[in-house]
Amino acid sequence: MGLRINDIAPDFTADSTEGRIEFHKWIGDGYAILFSHPRDFTPVCTTEFGAVAQLAEEFEKRNTKVIGVSVDSVEDHLKWKRDIEAFAGAPANFPIIDDTSLSVSKAYDMLPADFYLPTEGRTPANSATVRSVFIIGPDKKVRLTMTYPMSIGRNFAEILRALDAVRATDGVPFATPANWVPGQDVIVALSVPTDEAKAKYGDLDIRLPYLRYARHPG
Ligand code: BEZ
Repeated sequence: MGLRINDIAPDFTADSTEGRIEFHKWIGDGYAILFSHPRDFTPVCTTEFGAVAQLAEEFEKRNTKVIGVSVDSVEDHLKWKRDIEAFAGAPANFPIIDDTSLSVSKAYDMLPADFYLPTEGRTPANSATVRSVFIIGPDKKVRLTMTYPMSIGRNFAEILRALDAVRATDGVPFATPANWVPGQDVIVALSVPTDEAKAKYGDLDIRLPYLRYARHPG
Protein backbone atom coordinates (compact mmCIF):
# COMPACT_ATOMS: atom_id res chain seq x y z
CA MET A 1 0.00 0.00 0.00
CA GLY A 2 1.19 3.54 -0.73
CA LEU A 3 1.87 6.19 1.84
CA ARG A 4 -1.18 7.66 3.54
CA ILE A 5 -1.89 11.09 4.95
CA ASN A 6 -0.35 11.31 8.47
CA ASP A 7 2.10 8.44 7.87
CA ILE A 8 5.64 9.36 8.86
CA ALA A 9 7.45 10.09 5.59
CA PRO A 10 10.12 7.38 5.18
CA ASP A 11 13.54 8.64 6.21
CA PHE A 12 16.50 7.86 3.94
CA THR A 13 20.07 8.78 3.21
CA ALA A 14 20.86 9.42 -0.45
CA ASP A 15 23.29 11.19 -2.76
CA SER A 16 21.99 14.35 -4.35
CA THR A 17 23.19 17.30 -6.36
CA GLU A 18 23.92 18.97 -2.98
CA GLY A 19 25.88 16.02 -1.59
CA ARG A 20 24.71 13.31 0.75
CA ILE A 21 21.33 14.03 2.35
CA GLU A 22 19.79 12.53 5.48
CA PHE A 23 16.22 13.34 4.63
CA HIS A 24 14.59 14.04 8.01
CA LYS A 25 17.64 15.96 9.20
CA TRP A 26 17.65 17.91 5.93
CA ILE A 27 13.97 18.87 6.39
CA GLY A 28 14.80 20.41 9.77
CA ASP A 29 11.92 22.17 11.50
CA GLY A 30 10.06 23.49 8.44
CA TYR A 31 7.98 21.92 5.68
CA ALA A 32 9.30 19.96 2.72
CA ILE A 33 8.06 19.03 -0.72
CA LEU A 34 9.46 15.86 -2.25
CA PHE A 35 8.55 15.40 -5.87
CA SER A 36 9.53 12.78 -8.39
CA HIS A 37 9.87 13.04 -12.14
CA PRO A 38 10.25 10.23 -14.67
CA ARG A 39 13.51 11.07 -16.40
CA ASP A 40 16.16 13.76 -16.77
CA PHE A 41 16.48 15.46 -20.17
CA THR A 42 12.79 15.05 -21.04
CA PRO A 43 10.48 17.88 -22.14
CA VAL A 44 7.66 17.87 -19.58
CA CYS A 45 10.07 17.36 -16.68
CA THR A 46 12.17 20.30 -17.86
CA THR A 47 9.12 22.59 -17.79
CA GLU A 48 8.19 21.31 -14.31
CA PHE A 49 11.65 21.82 -12.84
CA GLY A 50 11.79 25.23 -14.51
CA ALA A 51 8.51 26.12 -12.74
CA VAL A 52 9.98 25.04 -9.38
CA ALA A 53 13.14 27.08 -10.02
CA GLN A 54 11.01 30.16 -10.74
CA LEU A 55 9.05 29.67 -7.48
CA ALA A 56 12.12 29.33 -5.24
CA GLU A 57 11.43 32.57 -3.34
CA GLU A 58 7.80 31.57 -2.74
CA PHE A 59 8.82 28.26 -1.16
CA GLU A 60 11.44 30.02 0.97
CA LYS A 61 8.84 32.55 2.23
CA ARG A 62 6.77 29.56 3.38
CA ASN A 63 9.69 27.97 5.25
CA THR A 64 9.51 25.05 2.83
CA LYS A 65 12.39 23.13 1.27
CA VAL A 66 11.90 21.48 -2.10
CA ILE A 67 13.69 18.36 -3.32
CA GLY A 68 13.38 16.41 -6.57
CA VAL A 69 14.01 12.73 -7.17
CA SER A 70 14.35 10.47 -10.16
CA VAL A 71 16.04 7.19 -11.01
CA ASP A 72 18.85 9.05 -12.84
CA SER A 73 22.32 9.77 -11.45
CA VAL A 74 23.74 12.89 -9.78
CA GLU A 75 25.98 13.33 -12.80
CA ASP A 76 22.94 13.45 -15.11
CA HIS A 77 21.00 15.69 -12.72
CA LEU A 78 23.88 18.20 -12.65
CA LYS A 79 24.10 18.31 -16.46
CA TRP A 80 20.32 18.57 -16.78
CA LYS A 81 20.17 21.47 -14.28
CA ARG A 82 22.04 23.59 -16.83
CA ASP A 83 19.23 23.01 -19.35
CA ILE A 84 16.57 23.78 -16.73
CA GLU A 85 18.28 27.05 -15.80
CA ALA A 86 18.66 28.08 -19.45
CA PHE A 87 15.00 27.25 -20.11
CA ALA A 88 13.53 28.85 -16.97
CA GLY A 89 15.91 31.80 -16.62
CA ALA A 90 16.19 30.96 -12.91
CA PRO A 91 18.74 28.96 -10.92
CA ALA A 92 17.63 25.45 -9.95
CA ASN A 93 18.93 25.83 -6.40
CA PHE A 94 17.22 22.79 -4.93
CA PRO A 95 18.69 19.31 -4.59
CA ILE A 96 17.80 16.42 -6.87
CA ILE A 97 18.27 12.96 -5.43
CA ASP A 98 20.12 10.20 -7.27
CA ASP A 99 17.81 7.23 -6.96
CA THR A 100 19.52 4.85 -9.33
CA SER A 101 19.11 2.24 -6.57
CA LEU A 102 15.29 2.82 -6.61
CA SER A 103 15.24 2.78 -2.82
CA VAL A 104 13.49 6.17 -2.43
CA SER A 105 11.14 5.43 -5.36
CA LYS A 106 10.10 2.18 -3.73
CA ALA A 107 9.78 3.59 -0.20
CA TYR A 108 7.46 6.32 -1.51
CA ASP A 109 5.68 4.06 -4.03
CA MET A 110 6.66 6.28 -6.95
CA LEU A 111 6.95 3.58 -9.59
CA PRO A 112 4.08 2.90 -12.01
CA ALA A 113 2.16 -0.37 -11.90
CA ASP A 114 3.87 -1.67 -15.02
CA PHE A 115 7.49 -0.83 -14.18
CA TYR A 116 9.95 -3.37 -15.42
CA LEU A 117 13.27 -4.34 -13.90
CA PRO A 118 15.43 -6.48 -16.16
CA THR A 119 18.07 -8.43 -14.25
CA GLU A 120 20.79 -6.87 -16.40
CA GLY A 121 21.26 -3.64 -18.28
CA ARG A 122 18.51 -1.67 -16.53
CA THR A 123 18.13 1.89 -17.76
CA PRO A 124 15.90 4.63 -16.28
CA ALA A 125 13.48 3.90 -19.14
CA ASN A 126 12.61 0.57 -17.47
CA SER A 127 11.72 2.11 -14.13
CA ALA A 128 10.81 5.78 -14.58
CA THR A 129 9.05 7.22 -11.54
CA VAL A 130 5.62 8.80 -12.04
CA ARG A 131 4.98 12.44 -11.10
CA SER A 132 4.38 12.21 -7.36
CA VAL A 133 4.28 15.07 -4.85
CA PHE A 134 4.51 14.76 -1.07
CA ILE A 135 4.05 17.73 1.23
CA ILE A 136 5.69 16.82 4.54
CA GLY A 137 5.20 18.71 7.81
CA PRO A 138 7.80 19.75 10.39
CA ASP A 139 6.78 16.63 12.35
CA LYS A 140 7.81 14.58 9.25
CA LYS A 141 4.25 13.43 8.65
CA VAL A 142 2.81 13.25 5.14
CA ARG A 143 0.30 16.11 4.82
CA LEU A 144 -0.68 15.83 1.18
CA THR A 145 0.04 13.58 -1.79
CA MET A 146 -0.61 13.97 -5.49
CA THR A 147 0.19 11.67 -8.36
CA TYR A 148 0.09 12.59 -12.02
CA PRO A 149 0.82 10.34 -14.97
CA MET A 150 3.93 10.82 -17.08
CA SER A 151 2.03 12.59 -19.84
CA ILE A 152 0.65 15.42 -17.63
CA GLY A 153 2.82 18.17 -16.19
CA ARG A 154 1.87 19.30 -12.70
CA ASN A 155 0.45 22.71 -11.80
CA PHE A 156 2.98 24.17 -9.37
CA ALA A 157 0.73 27.13 -8.62
CA GLU A 158 -1.74 24.56 -7.25
CA ILE A 159 1.01 22.89 -5.24
CA LEU A 160 1.85 26.27 -3.71
CA ARG A 161 -1.85 26.92 -3.02
CA ALA A 162 -2.20 23.50 -1.39
CA LEU A 163 0.91 24.21 0.71
CA ASP A 164 -0.70 27.48 1.86
CA ALA A 165 -3.85 25.56 2.78
CA VAL A 166 -1.87 22.93 4.70
CA ARG A 167 -0.04 25.65 6.63
CA ALA A 168 -3.28 27.59 7.29
CA THR A 169 -5.00 24.54 8.79
CA ASP A 170 -2.11 22.87 10.65
CA GLY A 171 -2.77 22.70 14.38
CA VAL A 172 -5.92 24.89 14.23
CA PRO A 173 -9.56 23.81 13.91
CA PHE A 174 -9.98 25.11 10.37
CA ALA A 175 -10.46 23.65 6.92
CA THR A 176 -10.33 25.41 3.56
CA PRO A 177 -13.24 25.43 1.11
CA ALA A 178 -13.10 24.57 -2.57
CA ASN A 179 -10.73 26.79 -4.56
CA TRP A 180 -9.60 28.64 -1.42
CA VAL A 181 -6.71 31.02 -1.76
CA PRO A 182 -4.86 32.86 1.04
CA GLY A 183 -6.81 35.87 2.32
CA GLN A 184 -10.20 34.18 1.93
CA ASP A 185 -12.26 32.96 4.87
CA VAL A 186 -11.75 29.46 6.24
CA ILE A 187 -14.28 26.92 7.52
CA VAL A 188 -14.58 26.31 11.27
CA ALA A 189 -14.24 22.60 12.14
CA LEU A 190 -17.44 20.84 13.25
CA SER A 191 -15.71 20.00 16.55
CA VAL A 192 -15.89 23.67 17.65
CA PRO A 193 -19.30 24.87 18.97
CA THR A 194 -20.55 28.09 17.38
CA ASP A 195 -20.39 30.15 20.62
CA GLU A 196 -16.83 29.07 21.24
CA ALA A 197 -15.87 29.82 17.63
CA LYS A 198 -17.41 33.32 17.87
CA ALA A 199 -15.57 34.00 21.12
CA LYS A 200 -12.28 32.93 19.60
CA TYR A 201 -12.51 34.07 15.98
CA GLY A 202 -15.09 36.87 15.98
CA ASP A 203 -18.14 37.08 13.75
CA LEU A 204 -18.89 33.97 11.73
CA ASP A 205 -20.60 33.81 8.35
CA ILE A 206 -23.00 30.92 8.98
CA ARG A 207 -24.23 29.64 5.62
CA LEU A 208 -25.56 26.30 6.89
CA PRO A 209 -25.54 24.92 10.45
CA TYR A 210 -22.48 22.88 9.48
CA LEU A 211 -20.83 25.44 7.15
CA ARG A 212 -19.47 28.31 9.19
CA TYR A 213 -16.85 30.68 7.77
CA ALA A 214 -14.38 32.68 9.88
CA ARG A 215 -11.54 35.09 9.14
CA HIS A 216 -8.26 33.29 9.50
CA PRO A 217 -6.54 34.82 12.53
CA GLY A 218 -3.06 34.45 11.00
C1 BEZ B 1 8.70 14.11 -20.21
O1 BEZ B 1 8.47 14.80 -21.19
O2 BEZ B 1 8.89 14.61 -19.11
C2 BEZ B 1 8.81 12.62 -20.39
C3 BEZ B 1 8.64 12.08 -21.63
C4 BEZ B 1 8.73 10.70 -21.78
C5 BEZ B 1 9.01 9.88 -20.71
C6 BEZ B 1 9.18 10.45 -19.46
C7 BEZ B 1 9.09 11.82 -19.29
